Amino acid sequence: MGHTVHINLGERSYDIRIEAGSLADCGSLIKTVTPAKRCLLVTNDVVKQWYLEPALGSLKSAGFDASPFVLPDGEHVKSLNCLESIYHAMIEARIDRHGCVIALGGGVVGDLAGFAAATYMRGIDFVQIPTTLLAQVDSSVGGKTGINLREGKNLVGAFYQPRLVVIDPDVLSTLDGRQLRAGFAEVIKYGIIYDADLFAYLEDHIERIFKLDSTCIAHIVAVSCSIKADVVEQDERESGLRAILNFGHTVGHAIEAVTGYDRFVHGEAVAVGMAVAVTLANSVSGFTDGCVKRVISLLKRSQLPYRIPSDISTESIIECMRKDKKVKNDIIRFVLPERIGKVKIVDDVPVSAIARAIDFYRSDCD
Ligand code: NAD
Ligand code: GLY
Repeated sequence: MGHTVHINLGERSYDIRIEAGSLADCGSLIKTVTPAKRCLLVTNDVVKQWYLEPALGSLKSAGFDASPFVLPDGEHVKSLNCLESIYHAMIEARIDRHGCVIALGGGVVGDLAGFAAATYMRGIDFVQIPTTLLAQVDSSVGGKTGINLREGKNLVGAFYQPRLVVIDPDVLSTLDGRQLRAGFAEVIKYGIIYDADLFAYLEDHIERIFKLDSTCIAHIVAVSCSIKADVVEQDERESGLRAILNFGHTVGHAIEAVTGYDRFVHGEAVAVGMAVAVTLANSVSGFTDGCVKRVISLLKRSQLPYRIPSDISTESIIECMRKDKKVKNDIIRFVLPERIGKVKIVDDVPVSAIARAIDFYRSDCD
């Protein structure tokens, strides 16, 4: 039996349908949310090999005139060039403002196809079929879409909610272990920021989760989506609360940037960022030694990194946060946990305290 998480945003409300095998049924599910006849199914050449035919077949059986559009794999496709190529494909497929874009892939395909849908003919229907754990628990939900510029990531984009998210946990069977762990880092994040029961569930079921036990995967995806839905319902455009979803990301983004985006995948950098943040929280926001140990232990058991490698200097990370204009007068706004399941946004964390927390994990602290 599947789970449905509803995200309540007035006229932009939608369901997130989580069910093993739902990819093969995506056409009839999508039929219920859009009057579109024509649609563009955007994917990439990795995802294509297993999932394009089932998705396309299901769309055609449901009566859609569906055209596939296959991108190369990689973050570089979140570009103006690829965006333009999607617009041209839509025109070629005679998709008008009553048409629909469907993203079948990870966060890269979802962000790019979502931005294409948001902007083509001033916005057409959009559906997400996320195929990485990160996309299933995070990027497909909440409406952030966009592309990168050479000056930085996600600099052009729009808040644009999909009409539906179809999550088939079975597609994770082809995902490599590293990408699975990276998505799992975001699930750990939800436990720390919002839900102590989820965190305890992860501690108790980690072996089954990494064996892709379908009950466990469906549970952690559904709980993660419910948390994200709850946050986004309260603050769709990130004027306050939504910033808690960035827990671990301030240092995480800096680590990705100083290593040229090719050494850590996003979730790995977030894992290190969370280790730094809980250490900082231990001295700033009352996060106990016991809680720090639980977080580090879960990161280790997940085989996620939690130390900053010795060749990356603390100063280079702080400098990167400065360039990002996140640091003002040597203080920075930071999301810090008070206990597992509860965070707060602290406006005035001294950069020197962050530097100390970064340095802590260079020492042999096991
Ligand atoms: P990704 O889309 O690059 O996917 C990771 C890799 O897995 C790729 O090589 C992809 O081809 C492959 N893949 C996808 N599904 C697969 C499957 N089922 N089996 C085998 N391989 C598969 O990366 P990601 O981690 O999913 O997403 C990262 C992107 O998401 C970044 O661009 C980031 O900026 C964005 N993001 C967006 C939001 C948001 O709210 N919109 C949130 C977080 C991240
Ligand atoms: N990934 C953070 C957000 O969607 O706000």
